[in-house]
Amino acid sequence: MRTTAVVALALCVTANPRCANQHPECDNWAKQGECVKNPSYMDKSCAAACGVDCTKAKDCFGFEIDLYGDEMTDHDRDTFANNLRINQHQPPTVPQFTELGHKLVRIPEPLRSRLFQHRQLMLDRDLLRREGCTRGYLNNCGRHPTLTMPLDRDLTREINRATASVLEDWIGREKWGSLVHTSTYGIRRYTNGSTLQAHVDVVATHAVSAILNVGQDVDSDWPLQIMGHDGTAHSVVMAPGDMVLYESAKAIHARMIPLNGTSYDNVFVHFRPSKGWERFVDVPNGGVVADHVEL
Ligand SMILES: *[C@@H]1O[C@H](CO)[C@@H](O)[C@H](O)[C@H]1NC(C)=O
Ligand SMILES: *[C@@H]1O[C@H](CO)[C@@H](O)[C@H](O)[C@H]1NC(C)=O
Repeated sequence: MRTTAVVALALCVTANPRCANQHPECDNWAKQGECVKNPSYMDKSCAAACGVDCTKAKDCFGFEIDLYGDEMTDHDRDTFANNLRINQHQPPTVPQFTELGHKLVRIPEPLRSRLFQHRQLMLDRDLLRREGCTRGYLNNCGRHPTLTMPLDRDLTREINRATASVLEDWIGREKWGSLVHTSTYGIRRYTNGSTLQAHVDVVATHAVSAILNVGQDVDSDWPLQIMGHDGTAHSVVMAPGDMVLYESAKAIHARMIPLNGTSYDNVFVHFRPSKGWERFVDVPNGGVVADHVEL
């Protein structure tokens, strides 16, 4: 019991430090009906007086997180609070590569066909394995785990080469140099009910990235939410063979509508620029984040 109370309190402070009244007049204003008349100010500054529920939080896309929902762990809550801070503080510090920050294209041939074939081969050989999950980012991964099927070395090399070329064309080689490959994940299979919290990636290594969809069996679209540099939230729906190019350390992204279907198979490829990235290469995850922030 005691632990729960402490965690709840710590969370309110971390995820929503303004949950307490920020002004001595809050209770009076609330009595005068200001919570209803002026909710945008009052919910933030007089949350306690207006009875704002600190067990719920909204991400930047407006999705409400039930922080104490039955699939949420302490770790999920910590990650969520940490992500809120990083989402607020990291993006403004990261250079902008393109006008919007993301782009939906097709995976170039012959890579697309090779990926489809390889995926089928792995499924035929029964090489789908359960993957350790990244709790917090990927919610409910205990009940709805991710699976993985291996890529071979040649195919990985081909993925890295082909995506680097598309991404370099997209952001401009002159300014940012050739891209330095940092990681390739997948083929990762998301299963029914998966959601991905709003986050940005590690700026040192995950600056320019691509998501390749190599297969899906869904009953409804599973959109990617991604914040554009235009300040609006975009919803991107991928078909098998599509690839989303995105500025992964700057554009906040999520999949907050639970996957409705059996499977969704992606490959992720991450790069950083070889020019103009010197000041970021030693920055740890979330390291640009100040200790104390207002949410
Ligand atoms: C999942 O997809 C099916 C088939 O399109 C649909 O009937 C159902 O309402 C969807 N469920 C959710 C939660 O969206
Ligand atoms: C996914 O999960 C929902 C909710 O539990 C269920 O209604 C639906 O039938 C499942 N879909 C598949 C394809 O298993």
